[in-house]
Amino acid sequence: FLSNSNSDKRIVITAGGTLEPIDPVRYIGNRSSGKMGIALAKAAASAGFKVDLIVGNISVDLPDDINIKVSQIETTEQMLKAVKENFEAADVLIMAAAVADYRVKNYVNHKIKKQAKIQYQLDLEETPDILKTIGALKRPDQLVIGFAAETNDLLENATKKLESKNADIIVANDVSKNVFGNDEDEVTILQKKSCPLHWQRMDKSKIAKRLIKLVEENLIKK
Ligand code: C5P
Repeated sequence: FLSNSNSDKRIVITAGGTLEPIDPVRYIGNRSSGKMGIALAKAAASAGFKVDLIVGNISVDLPDDINIKVSQIETTEQMLKAVKENFEAADVLIMAAAVADYRVKNYVNHKIKKQAKIQYQLDLEETPDILKTIGALKRPDQLVIGFAAETNDLLENATKKLESKNADIIVANDVSKNVFGNDEDEVTILQKKSCPLHWQRMDKSKIAKRLIKLVEENLIKK
């Protein structure tokens, strides 16, 4: 019965890594497994939310739940388009995806041939920042949550992200500590007007439940 209280609420969650093609057979990718984003989608659905899950490249199974609508994409541009399409009708966005920061400018539509002793150079350009784009479009009734994966100056960098991306919450994690593909994580929650909350190392599914609870609390305040 409790879970029904969220049944009119929609949440957009991104998971996994985006891929940027080099040629028809090769791409630039990253080590994201999608575990955190998918755990969040499951936790949100269990709490009664309607979930739009936008997934890139993942190494775990997709959830099978009628309250989770899955869209699969590859590139950052496609993820941006899918997030934009779903955000309008949503109450919450959680950007758990590991988005590629650069894409290949000199994409070729045939397989690049190996040539002995010839160096091949990739020309890279920045991808759009999805979180920042959506943060700027956010209505006062909507909640936007981002992740900050850092190897140095975690809290300082994550605090800057709260401002620069106009996010309500940033989930900061130190990725020098064997996080990718792991079932556990250790995160610090940053919010604009309160002190950082440090959550001890625990299962990603447990972090997901806590984070969805925090989302519910924040939605009540909106
Ligand atoms: O700037 P940085 O990549 O460290 O920020 C991380 C947060 O921003 C994550 O929530 C990630 O999903 C999101 N992001 C994004 N678009 C990008 C890069 C990151 O939405 N191009």
